Amino acid sequence: MPNQSRSITDEWFNKDFAKQWDETAFEGNHARTKHLDIMLSIILKEYQAANTILDLGIGSGQFEATIFDQRPNANIVGVDYSPAMLELAEIRLRSFLEQCVLIQHDFTNLEKLVLPRKKYQIAVSVQALHHISHQKKLEVFKYLYQILEEKGIFLLSDRITINTTHLSHLYTALWEYLEENSKMKSGWSGKYYVHERLPQKADYPATLEELLTFLHEAGFQAACLHLQMDRALIAGIKLPKPLV
Ligand SMILES: C[S@@+](CC[C@H](N)C(=O)[O-])C[C@H]1O[C@@H](n2cnc3c(N)ncnc32)[C@H](O)[C@@H]1O
Repeated sequence: MPNQSRSITDEWFNKDFAKQWDETAFEGNHARTKHLDIMLSIILKEYQAANTILDLGIGSGQFEATIFDQRPNANIVGVDYSPAMLELAEIRLRSFLEQCVLIQHDFTNLEKLVLPRKKYQIAVSVQALHHISHQKKLEVFKYLYQILEEKGIFLLSDRITINTTHLSHLYTALWEYLEENSKMKSGWSGKYYVHERLPQKADYPATLEELLTFLHEAGFQAACLHLQMDRALIAGIKLPKPLV
């Protein structure tokens, strides 16, 4: 039987938790490598010098390190509310801090977020928005639509809600398959992941359909670029809203 009495809460303000997360970010997330690779390849093709990339929930800057590795002149602004995660980002990105502005801010409070005045061509968010309510997700999408340049791109990689009520046996089998074929093994069985771990997570993942609906409502043209189990990579493009 699933044990729903305990809940798994991420302690982003705890330094030990942050360090541990940073060291094990790829474990139990079989799609992370693929998503970051796809996002990087899109950025390498689309990013135009002198523009800025915004990362909501930059965390310890793992993705940014890969961008700077390929595009040492990129400009990035990263927002995160955890001083512990930002400290790790500062260390990891120390050679690039002139081009990488780190801002400590809670993105559920966007009215008070003061971003540097830049041309935001690309926005990204990796595994961060499932921490906030659906209403706040919609607000984030509307905010991004507003600050992005025309034809700006939003890349969202996140954990989504899956139908474990009716398809749990299929997801259990899929988890076991992914785990078996992954270099980064969590050691978790499919039964544990689907029936215990997911129900205990104290966060707010949306379904794929909900995320696409919110993005469309915010004004984006949006599509899912990659989907694997409960991990989706979604892209949104800011085209001008049609005149009515
Ligand atoms: C799972 S980590 C992902 C970090 C990074 N995007 C990556 O994938 O390497 C989630 C991050 O979102 C941040 N976060 C969660 N809720 C937030 C909020 N309301 N405002 C700002 N940052 C938040 C956490 O502090 C944490 O650094």
